[in-house]
Amino acid sequence: MGETTPFEFKFLMAGEAPRGSYVKVKEGSKDWMVAQVMEVTRSNVAYSLSAIDEENPGAKERVLGLARVIGVASGGRLEMAAAPPRPGDPVFRADDHLIEMALGLSKGNLYIGLLEGHDLKVKLDADALVQKHCSILAKTGSGKSYTAAVVLEELLEKGVALLIIDPHGEYASMKQKNSKGEFARFDVSPRGYDVTVYSPASSAAAPHADRPLRFNGRNLTAREISAMLPEDVTNSQRGVLYEAIKVLEAEGGDYGLEEIIAQAEKDSSKAKWGLIGHLEALADLGIFSGKPTGLGDLLQRGRASIIDMTGVPPDLQGMIVAKLLSDLFEARKRGRVNPGMVVVEEAHNYIPERGSGRAASTPVIRTIAAEGRKFGLGLLVISQRPARVDKNVISQCNTQIILRVTNPNDLRALSKGIEGMSSELEEEIKRLPPGTAMLVGGEIEHPVTVKVRPRKSRHGGVSTPIVGDGRADRGGKAAPPQPKGPDKRQDSGKAERKEPAGGLLRKILGK
Ligand SMILES: Nc1ncnc2c1ncn2[C@@H]1O[C@H](COP(=O)(O)OP(=O)(O)O)[C@@H](O)[C@H]1O
Ligand SMILES: [Mg+2]
Repeated sequence: MGETTPFEFKFLMAGEAPRGSYVKVKEGSKDWMVAQVMEVTRSNVAYSLSAIDEENPGAKERVLGLARVIGVASGGRLEMAAAPPRPGDPVFRADDHLIEMALGLSKGNLYIGLLEGHDLKVKLDADALVQKHCSILAKTGSGKSYTAAVVLEELLEKGVALLIIDPHGEYASMKQKNSKGEFARFDVSPRGYDVTVYSPASSAAAPHADRPLRFNGRNLTAREISAMLPEDVTNSQRGVLYEAIKVLEAEGGDYGLEEIIAQAEKDSSKAKWGLIGHLEALADLGIFSGKPTGLGDLLQRGRASIIDMTGVPPDLQGMIVAKLLSDLFEARKRGRVNPGMVVVEEAHNYIPERGSGRAASTPVIRTIAAEGRKFGLGLLVISQRPARVDKNVISQCNTQIILRVTNPNDLRALSKGIEGMSSELEEEIKRLPPGTAMLVGGEIEHPVTVKVRPRKSRHGGVSTPIVGDGRADRGGKAAPPQPKGPDKRQDSGKAERKEPAGGLLRKILGK
């Protein structure tokens, strides 16, 4: 209709072509031009503001689509359109084969969901995803953890080893099979996975963990401990640590955290107190006592190890992740552990952007983002605050999975981090319904909108109704006490979720 260009054209709709769906029109005599419907408008001259014609208004209604050209399919390849389609030519719904080819969907082996507007499976490529890292970004409640679990299920089925940093204890439910979802429509069969839950907390604080997470605490070097300390620990505090360990080493050696603390207390500078505070917090947690966890156990092919951080104070979480991932990365470099993928949930806590917090884990995660590829260690970062996650890490993520984002700062952060992000895509992202994701990068040639498939395993991130029937926490996992005190990093609303809400409310309401 009207004027067409090699970039876009308008067409009169006789059949279904909803917004977001794909259409084709002949370019010249043989090749198909593929385009995506960006806008649909309905009008009726009888009801136009200028001319009100009361005779038979229905007959004058028309539906007009605006389609954006993606390219021309020529000899199995997608090429740039050079000429506009001819006005008057018929426009058809694009067939699956053509869409797959035009969007680059046929190369993948990880089934994520169905293409919006078409019943076509969208697959990501496992190798590209693991080796070149992936991010999942969106606001709370939009389906990040759900989508992450879908990706993880697919990776496990391909035999990838996973290590999941899980601040809210919501991934343990991967053991169980899912019981609700449109399984038939999405062609999914529910199942559980081989998952081991580790907890760095004492066994009293984590009764549901399968195993404790413990590090070898004997004869740690000053460098090893320093790498665990939060970034805001000053050089003079670190100096006290180096001095203390120098003395202990000179005395011939066998020392643990307690001895380091005792030695640091002898220091005459005031700087020692900041250091001692951190060391005592570690000692209290018991992470360095007992039998150390074998690093090789943490990365096993086709299995997931979950580090359940519930009950662990936030700054200690950063220290634990720093130690764990440094040890793992070193072991991986030497080929002592399997290759695999490290998953960081609520990544803004572990790799905060400068100015929005500090964490001991930032340097090592940056290193994995930059060098992991060489050593077969992939990274999947998940966050509800794209603006507050370290840009160095996000920019290394080649595959981006974006769900609904509305915060302007976060949208701006996304636009900066993603090549080819247009203001139209931003609009699209603001409107994504829950469970619908936009995939960008990787082997996918053009951003695609996907209805994420149902999980095969049970979702553990179900929010507990605060006012309800009192059958709180169907996950069956008792909530350990959350750390008290100012905690800027818990802006997810998930801390409340873990409170067994039923009891107190029931008393108050007299039920
Ligand atoms: N693809 C999906 N299919 C079905 N339900 C979904 C899907 N994605 C999200 N949900 C629902 O939305 C809720 C919130 O998802 P979740 O992943 O926990 O959000 P968040 O982004 O905060 O991690 C879940 O409890 C789940 O019921
Ligand atoms: Mg979540």
